[in-house]
Amino acid sequence: MAKRMPHNVRMGEASLPPPSQTRKASVIPIAEQRHRALLPRVPTHTHPANGLLADALGRPLRDLRISVTDRCNFRCSYCMPKEVFDRDYAFLPQTSLLSFEEITRLARVFASHGVKKIRLTGGEPTLRKHLDVLVGMLAELRGADGEPLDLTLTTNGSLLTKKAKALAEAGLKRITVSLDALDDAIFQRMNDVEFPVADVLAGIDAALAAGLSPVKVNMVVKRGTNDGEILPMARWFREHYGGAVVLRFIEYMDVGETNGWRMDHVLPSRELIERIGSVYPLQPISAQTDGETAERWRYADGGGEIGVISSVTQAFCRDCNRARLSTEGKLYLCLFATQGHDLRHLLREATASDEQIGGALADIWTQRSDRYSELRSAGVAPTAERKVEMHYIGG
Ligand code: GTP
Ligand code: 5AD
Ligand code: SF4
Ligand code: SF4
Repeated sequence: MAKRMPHNVRMGEASLPPPSQTRKASVIPIAEQRHRALLPRVPTHTHPANGLLADALGRPLRDLRISVTDRCNFRCSYCMPKEVFDRDYAFLPQTSLLSFEEITRLARVFASHGVKKIRLTGGEPTLRKHLDVLVGMLAELRGADGEPLDLTLTTNGSLLTKKAKALAEAGLKRITVSLDALDDAIFQRMNDVEFPVADVLAGIDAALAAGLSPVKVNMVVKRGTNDGEILPMARWFREHYGGAVVLRFIEYMDVGETNGWRMDHVLPSRELIERIGSVYPLQPISAQTDGETAERWRYADGGGEIGVISSVTQAFCRDCNRARLSTEGKLYLCLFATQGHDLRHLLREATASDEQIGGALADIWTQRSDRYSELRSAGVAPTAERKVEMHYIGG
């Protein structure tokens, strides 16, 4: 019989490691929200695993984003600025990480409660050793409807020439590659490790050659930094890939606490669509599935489609069906959350059964009411607490 844990006990700030272990005294203090978590109760009741969970705002659980490492070989200024994530930064130790078996077990429980899509993220997920083995394990899972899951991955593309084939052979269906510019000087200023554009493009080609389809390319647009790259990117992917690559433009978000976000760095998607549409006329396309992040547009001349993700100017919380599992097994219910729910504790210390984990998940999801972006757009300060960093819970 599993031990009963007290309900929602907060691990206090006392569980924070001393500052000297996590950062140099001289740098910007960073949000150590990794160490704040609620301990889920092991329920005495079970919850039917029929895929019908709904949160407090009626939103289903459909999309699970799993971060498999908090490390990255890039230092994008909007995500892992070098001044903070330097050689003294304490990334998670190996023992903290969920094993592939633990990830798969949790993913199976999530799938039985409604998840249909799994996205592997990081940090940079391809840095996790033997990632193809994990992909193979997840590819075996089925949703509550008995169908295979939509299994995908977000990557910076740097290792794809080496890894795309093995990932596809293991069962990965499609992939999303981040690329913020075609101009090397701009891209290298943004990735801050002098990584060349050509190598990412070679990674995209490797993904296509491996049969990963569609390949989506995500460009975070920061006004004054890379908005001059919008048209060159649109042109490049239209002309070289037609419909095989879907380019998506993401509004720069106030995620985490380290990127110095300012509203005047955001280029609203409306303006972006006008800029592209004035050169290549565009027509709107209706959404394929509920809760899509991207608004889709097609080139009127048949040159493929693009998407815009407008989380700042047109929040899409109303349909948000996404949950995020951190590298060390904490469940976050919002990209802007200030704390997670420690599911690893259920696996390791509480030795809960799958049914009990499902029951705990149901308890957590049914109480969820997060809608950070919507509140921020409405002028309500959604939280005064420090938010979790994106490299830790995934994008
Ligand atoms: P597809 O299924 O391939 O269309 O993926 P997706 O659009 O669901 O996911 P993707 O990881 O490509 O998301 C692209 C970007 O949208 C992320 O990098 C984030 O910047 C943003 N994003 C994704 N999910 C959320 C979310 O739940 N809230 C907010 N505010 N932004 C999100
Ligand atoms: N704003 C918008 N998107 C971001 N990403 C990371 N940080 C931000 C941010 N501040 C997204 C990018 C990147 C993915 C891993 O996470 O899409 O491609
Ligand atoms: Fe790494 Fe992606 Fe973050 Fe850039 S945005 S630092 S590539 S995790
Ligand atoms: Fe979902 Fe939070 Fe993003 Fe809103 S801000 S769409 S609730 S993750």
